[in-house]
Amino acid sequence: MHEKSIELLNKAVADELYAVHQYMYFHFHCEDQRYELLAGLFIRTAIEEMGHIELCAERILFLDGEVEMVASAEVKKIHEVKKMLELARKMEENSVKDYNIWANECSANNDAGSRMVFEGLVGDEERHYSQYDDEVVNIEKFGDRYLALQSIEGSKSAAAASAATTAE
Ligand SMILES: [Fe+2]
Ligand SMILES: [Fe+2]
Repeated sequence: MHEKSIELLNKAVADELYAVHQYMYFHFHCEDQRYELLAGLFIRTAIEEMGHIELCAERILFLDGEVEMVASAEVKKIHEVKKMLELARKMEENSVKDYNIWANECSANNDAGSRMVFEGLVGDEERHYSQYDDEVVNIEKFGDRYLALQSIEGSKSAAAASAATTAE
């Protein structure tokens, strides 16, 4: 009955799966470079995107559709922190744009339930956009000092953790 909604919800699942993969990839690399704050931001956001997959999947099943679990893109192997954040910000910007359009499309097809799912996602993606944007702005404003500070904090906590293990 709601074929178009099912198609749009599956497109969202594909984009969210790609976001989970990309943000987890960034999480590993930030952690490796000891940028713990950013590593934490990427993993927390990835977990929220997983929640989005669940919301879309539940709606697809409610509409008697099938959930296609295929990511919309391959992970981009970016290791430079500023470039990671710029890509993540762009991904969120695109999600906000797409979900607004898809909310309207569902509404035009008399499917208020799916419209509400997309509207809920818009709020979260706007918040993600703003978090990534703040980080890009900080790097632009404070340059390498901002990242150096995070790196120092990272090695301090690694040293504290290893001291705690030795003391046990
Ligand atoms: Fe999302
Ligand atoms: Fe997001």
